[in-house]
Amino acid sequence: MNAQQADFITASTTIDRPPLTPEIALHLATEVTPLWHATADSLVHAGVEPPFWAFAWPGGQALARYVMDNAAIVAGRRVLDIAAGSGLVAIAAAMAGAASVLANDIDPLSLAAVALNAKLNGVTVTTSGDDLTDLPFPEDGPREWDVILAGDVFYDREMAARFAPWLGARAAAGALVLIGDPNRPYLPSENLKRLKTYDVTTSLDLESATKMATTIWRLGA
Ligand SMILES: C[S@@+](CC[C@H](N)C(=O)[O-])C[C@H]1O[C@@H](n2cnc3c(N)ncnc32)[C@H](O)[C@@H]1O
Repeated sequence: MNAQQADFITASTTIDRPPLTPEIALHLATEVTPLWHATADSLVHAGVEPPFWAFAWPGGQALARYVMDNAAIVAGRRVLDIAAGSGLVAIAAAMAGAASVLANDIDPLSLAAVALNAKLNGVTVTTSGDDLTDLPFPEDGPREWDVILAGDVFYDREMAARFAPWLGARAAAGALVLIGDPNRPYLPSENLKRLKTYDVTTSLDLESATKMATTIWRLGA
């Protein structure tokens, strides 16, 4: 994280707590910035990268809640939060006692936000900006993570086409893969076991609803 990124994030956000995870403070977007009044969809159509890192997405909120309420899942284990955004899920895993937590995102501002947010909550989270979905499948190498957490990654067709096989291969190789998803259009339809559903409060600025039923799925179960 460089000083310019840190200054931008602190200047364009306020510190707030997602409704479902009040234990965790994050640098989050307020409704004041016109960019953030637009929906994620319209931004994508305009070719603008939405500031994903500035929101606690429903999938991430539900997954963070599930991890904190079921700490044994991650306690003492090596955890990857893939497509981390703000780092909400990674921070939850660190708070729940994970042995190590890697937050991965291809957006450099996300990695800066994760670092700021981890510090804000007094936990250790390391970051990686590599596109892990380019890595070979686990049969080609050692298993690096015991638990892989994916919050709200199936909102986009191209992204889902990369994530579904990558996560599936890691689940098949023995990792525990948990997905938090508010019924996005590209969620895989097979090989999922429902663990819990939460009613997550969301922002009308971001989604077309103020509440979204959001499910924790185990992949490969
Ligand atoms: C909807 S946000 C979810 C953020 C967070 N998990 C949450 O639930 O709040 C999706 C995130 O996926 C990231 N992303 C997109 N493609 C990716 C890839 N190939 N590898 C890692 N992250 C990616 C985006 O930068 C964005 O931060």
